[in-house]
Amino acid sequence: MTEDAPVRIRPEIAALPPYKQGKQAGPEAFKLSSNENPYEPLPAVVEALRRTVGVNRYPDATAARLRQALAVRFGVTPDEVHIGAGSVSILSQLMLAAAGPGDEIVYAWRSFEAYPGLVLIAGATPIEVPLGPGARHDLDAMAAAVTDRTRAVIVCTPNNPTGPVVTQAEFDAFLAKLPPDLLVILDEAYAEFVTEPDAVDGLRRLGIADHPNVVVLRTFSKAYGLAGLRVGYAIGHRRILDAARSTAVPLSVTAQSEEAALTSLQAEDELLERVHTIAARRDRLAAALRTQGWDIPDAQGNFVWLATGGQTMDAAARFEDGGCIVRPFAGDGIRISVGEEEAVEKVLQIAASVVEDLPEGHAGRALA
Ligand SMILES: Cc1ncc(COP(=O)(O)O)c(C=O)c1O
Repeated sequence: MTEDAPVRIRPEIAALPPYKQGKQAGPEAFKLSSNENPYEPLPAVVEALRRTVGVNRYPDATAARLRQALAVRFGVTPDEVHIGAGSVSILSQLMLAAAGPGDEIVYAWRSFEAYPGLVLIAGATPIEVPLGPGARHDLDAMAAAVTDRTRAVIVCTPNNPTGPVVTQAEFDAFLAKLPPDLLVILDEAYAEFVTEPDAVDGLRRLGIADHPNVVVLRTFSKAYGLAGLRVGYAIGHRRILDAARSTAVPLSVTAQSEEAALTSLQAEDELLERVHTIAARRDRLAAALRTQGWDIPDAQGNFVWLATGGQTMDAAARFEDGGCIVRPFAGDGIRISVGEEEAVEKVLQIAASVVEDLPEGHAGRALA
């Protein structure tokens, strides 16, 4: 086989590394690398999947039943709901709809690792605004980064991978600074895990009529434990969601994922009980890490962040050797998902020895 294939690939795509997934874990190890839900699906969800066997037919391309259920749930019309094969699909659709060559998309960095690639795929230019103190969004700097070339701004709250939320007051002040025709994507993939009362909640307090430029993204992957089925949703103005529907790959939301999501909405109380357990486990884990000497940013998702900096790959290898597969971001830090209860003690044992070896004054350590 020759090294070069005889077709021309867009240079920015040829230069783009493929999406890197959190590492898989062997049978003995805990997989804490992809912010998944450690609980197995509810029996009712398994039953819904068993029932949905007509796979010789295409699914309903509009996922009308799920849109209807979510519309009722959030007091909007079905046109103000859009379903995607994971919320990452909707992110991509919105970027393709809003931005192209010469346009810019602003987001905080470090944040969700899919953002830069999706912006480049749209042909647009990523504008990354460094996180501020506490690994939180610096919304003033983000507003200042908006120019007449900006076509979208993404706010990730809680921020993956660092953990803190944007507050409602901060978000409101941010919106007030932005042009009203600028698309604002509020990525709330981990919203259900949030316990901070001042956090922005795009679906509780946001009026589509008041802020028609804001689209809220949520997912069934995390709190509802359906990551493997690929189903997420957006709530926003019909015109923006129609544009996302136009750029979507048709028919990518399967009947099985729609059915499982509908069943999960019906079993929401039971699922949110699990979410409370995970959030409490997260708080315990974060508190114990702080006691060990780690400087842990406010953890509001189903994960914690260790700012291991230059020691990241070495520390990740130590977690792996100890049976915990974590998510390293070379040179920056390690994200550890809150998984099974039995994983907590293991993580803490390894973390204790890693923090001890960090030099005095290291960013991952709390000031003495
Ligand atoms: C911030 C954020 N947004 C969106 C997603 C995408 O989730 P999904 O496509 O599974 O709905 C993720 C997944 O890790 C995420 O962390």
